[in-house]
Amino acid sequence: MVPEEFLKATETLANSEADARGAPSRFQIALSADVGDRLAKTLAADREVVRAGTLLMDCGLGCAMAEGRQKEHARISAEMAGDLIARFPEISEEAGGRNILACVLEHHGGRARFHSAESEICCNADCCRFLTVGGVMGGMGGLRDMPLSGMAQLFLAKAEEKWAALSIPALKEELEPQYRAVKEFFSQFRE
Ligand SMILES: [Fe+2]
Repeated sequence: MVPEEFLKATETLANSEADARGAPSRFQIALSADVGDRLAKTLAADREVVRAGTLLMDCGLGCAMAEGRQKEHARISAEMAGDLIARFPEISEEAGGRNILACVLEHHGGRARFHSAESEICCNADCCRFLTVGGVMGGMGGLRDMPLSGMAQLFLAKAEEKWAALSIPALKEELEPQYRAVKEFFSQFRE
């Protein structure tokens, strides 16, 4: 059981980091939270854990980027999530706390197996930021200062990285046309 007050606090933390640092954006946070909730319902997973996981999985990204430690952002996010969880002793470690932290730590995949269905869902929801046309369109807004060639390279690289991380077969099938469209669009960029 994850209390509503905790979910509100996760939303406040995620959005305040988005507003202060711009990465990830509120748009990207909301997109992953919506996709995660849809997957949690479809796959009968714990919707509250998935919501907390999608909101918290990148809460330390802006801080990590500011310090040049982007590769460590999952661990930094997990530390921030752990501090928040500690303020809510009613969240039991077994029922929620450990699982939420796994959602944060594993949100980029790359492990032999996920800690839980909720953790796998968070990873797949994260992928949607770069594997949907809408996710790319919304994500471009936060990169206005980036040269166009850099933006094209970034979205191409992210499309490949996230396609490899996408692990839920039904979602992979659903997103394949958009993945191909995103790749085709950015591969056609010319200076
Ligand atoms: Fe991330």
